[in-house]
Amino acid sequence: MNDRVETVVKRALSAIENARTTAALEEARVRLLGRKGELTLLMRQMRSIDPENRPRFGALVNSARERIEKELDERAMALDAAERAERLESERIDVTAPGRMPRIGKIHPLTQGIRDITEIFVEMGFKVVEGPEVETDYYNFEALNTPEYHPARDVQDTFYINESVLLRTQTSPMQAREMEKRKPPVKVVVPGKVYRRDQVDATHSPVFHQIEGLLVDRDVTFTDLKGTLAMFARRFYGGEREVRFRPHYFPFTEPSAEMDILCAICGGTGCRVCKQEGWIEVLGCGLVHPNVLRAVGYDPDELTGYAFGMGVERIVMLKYGIDDLRLLFENDLRFLSQF
Ligand code: DAH
Repeated sequence: MNDRVETVVKRALSAIENARTTAALEEARVRLLGRKGELTLLMRQMRSIDPENRPRFGALVNSARERIEKELDERAMALDAAERAERLESERIDVTAPGRMPRIGKIHPLTQGIRDITEIFVEMGFKVVEGPEVETDYYNFEALNTPEYHPARDVQDTFYINESVLLRTQTSPMQAREMEKRKPPVKVVVPGKVYRRDQVDATHSPVFHQIEGLLVDRDVTFTDLKGTLAMFARRFYGGEREVRFRPHYFPFTEPSAEMDILCAICGGTGCRVCKQEGWIEVLGCGLVHPNVLRAVGYDPDELTGYAFGMGVERIVMLKYGIDDLRLLFENDLRFLSQF
């Protein structure tokens, strides 16, 4: 009798000892103490025992049960503590580690350039207006004193949609549109996309950005133009950046000029960037041609004006020392995140 109980206890203790996880221990508990457990079966054998021995047997089984329960509880506590410690270790979070910064978008250098440039002119009293990229031949060329035989109208250079509709090759058509729409004085800048049939390379793209400027009023002189543009260059490129004006030709201005800035790379002595010139061209300008004023019904004897147009890509590239225009369109974040 004693032996039977003792055997069950021994097996139970070794099963408890061998349980490596709380789940395994729980299985052992059911196997030992459950409805069909070994100890329960032992208890059922009570009937086959002599009545006078039953109390002793009962007491034996009970103390065996108590012993096993105690061992189970202790083992459960130990396993639980070990498993908790292991989980704490494997799920440890270093609250002192630096946070991971989400990537924050930035303004594209071209957009920033357009904003900076227009802002300078807005402070000088210009209004910002925009116009259509699909333009008529009339506004893009005809109204700008660019007659039919002019080389700029060649299909080699211009994207024509049909005979009289095209993708604007310049922002200048907005000169005529604005003058038609307003009474003088007119004082506007026009940022926007323009299109030309150019192959992509380090300095060309079939689509790029220009900013046009136009001022028409009484007694506007070339000196006004020079003062305004020199001021712009100082504000945009900073400090005492020297500028110069060179005579040039545009159909819609007379006289016409190009404005150069002193090369920032070599300071004027000549280098690869300025092609040994010492100066870099940044925009075209001039006094509005009388024919352009006439085309919109303005009287050239009463009104004069100046106009200018600049390529935004070029101006931004010069400001930041970017040597390939394609970088501005490839959307490589390694490049863009530098601005
Ligand atoms: N539209 C000219 C171009 O695309 C740039 C230009 C030159 C604009 C002289 C002007 C100007 O308004 O007066 O090359």
